[in-house]
Amino acid sequence: QQQIAIAIDGPAAAGKSTVAKKIADYFGYIYIDTGAMYRAFAWYVLTNEADPKNEEQSIQLLSSFSLTLERENGKTFVMVNDHDVTKEIRSNIVSLHASSVAAYGAVRTKMVDLQRDMAKHVSVVMDGRDIGTNVLPNADVKIFLIASAEERAERRYRELIRKGEDVSKNQLLTEILKRDAQDSSRQIAPLKKAEDAVEVDTTSLALPEVVTKIINEIRRKV
Ligand code: C5P
Repeated sequence: QQQIAIAIDGPAAAGKSTVAKKIADYFGYIYIDTGAMYRAFAWYVLTNEADPKNEEQSIQLLSSFSLTLERENGKTFVMVNDHDVTKEIRSNIVSLHASSVAAYGAVRTKMVDLQRDMAKHVSVVMDGRDIGTNVLPNADVKIFLIASAEERAERRYRELIRKGEDVSKNQLLTEILKRDAQDSSRQIAPLKKAEDAVEVDTTSLALPEVVTKIINEIRRKV
């Protein structure tokens, strides 16, 4: 059977992981959440009481950082040095610091190596910021998922409130815009639509509509 790679990129909180999971389930591919990897490293830096904004301090911790994504019953668990951080890396504070450590060359090299390795022998749906442009430039289908910043803040707000986090919608909007600006302006593999990516604006689409659109796009191409 043919091996397929689907790349889903886009700004923060555009719904990439929700959509990517559904697409992976539908086609029976492996879902790889690359944002979780940068989040896991940010968590590790914070846990070691280093400053994620300090490149030297952060990359010193790379050599003792071991990351695995474990799959069980269709769910992925993010393990750092055998410690399950799946839930902890979703906090708001980790989001912000993930964007800082994701700008460091040494961090990206390590993550991208792991990501390419994971996609080597199986069909994957991989979501992130630089999958179509950098990690898997030969992906069979590339999707660039966008939504208005207000809509993304609203969705993230509902998600965090549901989990019991105390956040303000306005602050979330500010943070999302800050993270997008940081991710788009960094030197190495910035957030950018690949030339051959299909842009899908989800602002006024319901989840099933987005999923159907992408499934049809994949069917057309592979
Ligand atoms: O997708 P998610 O919001 O979980 O990603 C967290 C952060 O990780 C992003 O803001 C970005 O800085 C970084 N990231 C990246 N490249 C990827 C995926 C995520 O730089 N492929």
